[in-house]
Amino acid sequence: MRAEILATRDLPALAPTLTHLFELLHSESATPRELATVVEADHALAARVLRAANSAFYGPRSGVSSVSRAVMALGWSKIESLAIAVGVWHNILPHRAAELRLLWRHAVRVGAAARLIARRTGKLGSDEAFTAGLLHDIGRAVLLLRHPEHAALLLSTAGDDPAREREILDVGHDQAGAWLAEAWRLPASAVAAIAHHHAPTDRSPATTPGVVALAENWLRHIERADGSDLGVAPWPDDFDTLSRELGDPFEFRSAVFEVAEPLETLLGEMRG
Ligand SMILES: [Fe+2]
Ligand SMILES: [Fe+2]
Repeated sequence: MRAEILATRDLPALAPTLTHLFELLHSESATPRELATVVEADHALAARVLRAANSAFYGPRSGVSSVSRAVMALGWSKIESLAIAVGVWHNILPHRAAELRLLWRHAVRVGAAARLIARRTGKLGSDEAFTAGLLHDIGRAVLLLRHPEHAALLLSTAGDDPAREREILDVGHDQAGAWLAEAWRLPASAVAAIAHHHAPTDRSPATTPGVVALAENWLRHIERADGSDLGVAPWPDDFDTLSRELGDPFEFRSAVFEVAEPLETLLGEMRG
């Protein structure tokens, strides 16, 4: 099955630049100059980084014309979210704008929540948690490419359900995504989150599968609350022990959306 998934028609390769970029972004010692050199080697990414640095989205800055200045202006985390948006998600689903938008929106919300949970509980690096959140459901893009006729199953918000996918497609998006992420040599902590976010052995914010599972649980709770006026509790039930560290639920929620909302439009802005 692994070989079949990786041989999915139209499934692209990861640009070698991206592998190098992820290594640098996750190494302690990389300098902005090294990062800029790698970005410059990928013309498409370099153009997008420049455009991002000059776009209103990142604040009005006029005339950032070199990649190294753009790298400095944007910072590690924004470069990484750009690379994941463009080099991973858009790379897999270049011709499915509507589906891509839905999956990306979920990714940035889970990523932003995972980052804030990691930051406030202090048991995991917040950038690591963010990356894991942005990538956790990449298998849904792979399965969508492979089984477009099952888009309804693969895109449903209530879905995100590997057990159901296994029944119908013989493989869940957790496993399919992990195979792809390993083949693409994505960061190990992201691979772990992709593989185990639906059944983490440790349901705590100390590991990437744990923090993504918590973020996802929180988001589902919030989205359910938004759709009803039934007065859903501000934190999900199993957040009892975490709620003190995470602070006021309404403030937490706006802090997550403040990060997530501008990122939601990133793919649209970066197209072309
Ligand atoms: Fe998810
Ligand atoms: Fe998932």
